[in-house]
Amino acid sequence: KKFTWVDQETCIACGACGAAAPDIFDYTDEGVAFVLLDSNEGSAEIPEDLLEDLDEAFEGCPTESIKIADQLFTEKMKIW
Ligand code: F3S
Repeated sequence: KKFTWVDQETCIACGACGAAAPDIFDYTDEGVAFVLLDSNEGSAEIPEDLLEDLDEAFEGCPTESIKIADQLFTEKMKIW
């Protein structure tokens, strides 16, 4: 199981994640990324067929703002 969450404090709105994984990431009006599947809660399990895209987005983020975990993100985990 994989879950993902964008640290919007460090996202510089570069736009790479949505290009790599358009079914997972989208952007706010300011261009800051969020997880489409759960409004950036980190609570939605990423479907199997999107895991490759997720990996690509994770690798491609220049600020390491994309976090991945094996369990759903708790508030505690959102402090890095
Ligand atoms: Fe932001 Fe990284 Fe995506 S900087 S727009 S989370 S690739």
